[in-house]
Order: sequence, then structure tokens, then C-alpha cells
Amino acid sequence: MAWTTEQRYKRYEQWTENEIQQIKNKIATSPWRATYHVEPDTGLLNDPNGFSYFDGKWIAFYQNFPFGATHGLKSWVQLESNDLVHFTETGVRVLPDTPLDSHGAYSGSAMQFDDKLFLFYTGNVRDENWVRHPYQIGALLDKDGHIQKLNKILIEQPQDTTDHFRDPQIFNYHGQFYAIVGGQNLDKKGYIKLYKAVDNDYTNWEEVGNLHFENDNTAYMMECPNLVFIDEKPVLLYCPQGLSKEIVPYDNIYPNMYKIGQSFDIKKATIIKPSPLQNLDYGFECYATQAFNAPDGRALAVSWLGLPDIAYPSDRFDHQGTFSLVKELTLKDGKLYQYPVPAITSLRTDNIQTFANQAQTKNCYELELEFTTDSQTEIVLFADQEHKGLRICFDIKNGQVTVDRSQAGEQYALEFGTVRSCTIENQATTATIFIDKSVFEIFINKGEKVFSGRVFPHENQNGIFISEGNPTGTYYELDYGREVN
Ligand code: FRU
Repeated sequence: MAWTTEQRYKRYEQWTENEIQQIKNKIATSPWRATYHVEPDTGLLNDPNGFSYFDGKWIAFYQNFPFGATHGLKSWVQLESNDLVHFTETGVRVLPDTPLDSHGAYSGSAMQFDDKLFLFYTGNVRDENWVRHPYQIGALLDKDGHIQKLNKILIEQPQDTTDHFRDPQIFNYHGQFYAIVGGQNLDKKGYIKLYKAVDNDYTNWEEVGNLHFENDNTAYMMECPNLVFIDEKPVLLYCPQGLSKEIVPYDNIYPNMYKIGQSFDIKKATIIKPSPLQNLDYGFECYATQAFNAPDGRALAVSWLGLPDIAYPSDRFDHQGTFSLVKELTLKDGKLYQYPVPAITSLRTDNIQTFANQAQTKNCYELELEFTTDSQTEIVLFADQEHKGLRICFDIKNGQVTVDRSQAGEQYALEFGTVRSCTIENQATTATIFIDKSVFEIFINKGEKVFSGRVFPHENQNGIFISEGNPTGTYYELDYGREVN
């Protein structure tokens, strides 16, 4: 179905019960619903928003267009979790229902103030000429799930910025609240602005200046900037749309990248001695990663396993997009590691086996693999009887991992290629792989490098086949433990 602008921006209250029921019926027939990855109840899931800790629980929202697998009028859908693995929808939404967010509740972050959770987000507004007005606005969520919008613009579009100005991230730096916002300057170059909460009042923001992080000035827009601190070092994650591939090679339509700084000079709005820019993920899908420092200091991140402007095979079942697993970010020897939180092992069932070929699985498992020095291994996941599926090659001798999805299920986004690879520096190599119906996440060396993506397997693609080498390891069947909502 080709969506018109009118259909995509139809007001929520104008969708009938019957139309919504039809969408639900269609989703119920999808072969590709994930189990332990967060998915939209209906329609499209894009960015993670408002990832935070509040009232003794972990909170995250997913951005959603509920009426089909397309980018339409967006709202936020609240999830809560006790363990960062099991998430449930609470029924609370940030709706696009005021003059300051009439065309979408766009991305943003959250922070607890007193007994409320402050949601800091972008109100997307289109005027009668369809000109965009991005407003940085706020709302308060109380412990009973009521949302009170502040109904005022907290940060206006700056003079030196086009209408691409969005995705505020609030953070606490040594007791003072700051925010960064992604934007595009009048030369159509992406940049990030830093703001300060005057007297720590989250309704009163003053500009500090542009954030200095040795921006190469090749991207045309920085979406979803996030600044976290790991061992006091600033780590800046963002999505530089249009980044030159000469700066960092990447294959996806838009990349999600990061830099690690040696230190942070807040007065000069400067990340000091930033590392070269690097890919956060080497797979086919990973975007709009949201990270924050939890009250216990850990840096936690969750990504959208999807990309803007891509059609997915699941679209015809009226759903698109999942979250990644929640990953803890750490630094080891100056390198960023990303690895699922420890509670992920709670998904393991009693079905634990030595890693070997399997004709049929439920496509819902974790693998822990080890490769010996100088070995060459190739495994096929989502494998059919002819051993066609997701091919993963671990060339330890040459320090190369390659993931090929050209024979794995229904193909899509072909113009961006079907193979991804990355180099690894450590000879002793392990891989931890999570498979969930139509999602894969591969963590090399406990998170030194990560490949994430989607696969939409054919009906008979559910086996495991070792096509080369003798990897050792363990297979754990996983079970979410309760009904998926
Ligand atoms: C990133 C993004 C954000 C924006 C949101 C709108 O995927 O484009 O920059 O706030 O999605 O849905």
C-alpha cells in the first residue's frame, strides 16, 4: 500500500475501531514477530525515547506510528521493566495532541525531578504551508501514569539553524543539568548544540554554544545525539546523516557512530582529544541509539533495529522495527564495549546443548562460541535443508568477521548490500549470538564489535549448520517466559 500524506497524518481519533482491529488481525498472521525484543503493538516502531530510571523501575518509550508500517504521526509508547530484559507496555502514551506537537511527538529523553519524570522532546509542527517548526518541549509523567504537558517552548529554533533541530538529551554533569540537541546549520551541515538549565530549572534553558568534538563537517544532520560518561570519559553517540564514507566507511543508509573523549571541558563546550569517529554497530540495522547514565553510574544503551527510509518485508503484516537488547557500555583499554545486561541469562531455558548442527530450532536462542587461534569457521543460522541462511564467517587468522544475509529469507534494502564485515584485533575470539525469530545480535569478544540486524526467514529456515571449522560452544534455547504483548 502506498501511503498518502493525508493518511499518515490522519488524527488518531479518526481511526475507527474496525480499522485498528484489521491491523491487529493482520499482525496476528505475521511469521516474524519477535519474542524477547521489544516490538510495536501495532504499526511502526522507531527511536527509543525517554530511557530512564523512575519510581524504582526502568522506563523506556518507543516511538510509534500505530496505524501501519510507515512513518506517520508519531507518539511515544511507555514501557516499564524491573530487569532491563522484560519490558511491558503500561498503556501510557505521549500523544501528538497540542499545538506544540501537532505533527508528531519526536525523539527526546527523560530525567526524574522530585517525584515526576520530566520528558524532554521535540514537538514536530507543520503549518498550513507544510513548513516545519521544531519545538523543544516538555511534559511531566507522575507515578500514576498521568502526563501533564508543560505547554511552552523550552528551547526555540536558533537563528543559525534550519528546521532540522531536534532530539534533546538531558544529562547531569557534576550536579548541573545540561542538554544537547541535534541540528543543521544554515550551510546545511550537521552540528550539536549544548544548553544549560539555569539554576537547574528544567523549564529554563540557555545556550552554551556548539559542542566541539572535531566535527568533520561532512554530515548534513546529526540525529539523536547522546552524551554519556564512562569512567569520567565523555562518549558521544550520534547519527551523522550524509557522513562522508571517506571519514568512516559504512554501508547502511544512515550510520550510528561514536567518539570517545579524553575529558570534557564543559565551560568551553568541548570534548577534549576525541577519538576518530567509529561505527557503533557493523550490522544491517542499528540507529537512533539512546544512552544514559543510570543512577548507579552504568551507561546503558538501547537501539532501534531499523532504519529510516527503508521498506521491510514485515510491512505487509503492518509491523516494522524492534528495539535491540539493552546494552551496557564500558571502556576497556580505551575501546568501547557493548554487551547485554547480565539479566539476559534469565531467558535461558533448560534446553542447553553443546553447539552442533540442528535441523530445526525455534529460532529463539543464544549461542556462546569460541574459536581457536588461526581458525576459520563458518556457520549458517536460519538454515534450511540446503544450508541456505544467515552465513557468518569468523576468520580469526585474518581478524575478520563477515555476515552475509543474501540467502536468509526475504530480501530487502538490496541497494545497501547483503554483506557486512569488520576487523577484530584480538586473536582469542568469542562470539555471543542472540537469535529471536527475525532479529539477530552478534557480540564479538563480549562486545568489542557488534553486528545487529533483521532477517525475515522463509518458513523452513530455522536450523543451525556448521559449514566450516570446529567451533566449540553452547546453545541455549531462550524463552521470554510470558505472553508477548
Ligand atoms: C531518527 C528521527 C529523529 C526524530 C524521529 C522522528 O530516527 O528522525 O531525528 O526525532 O526520528 O520520528
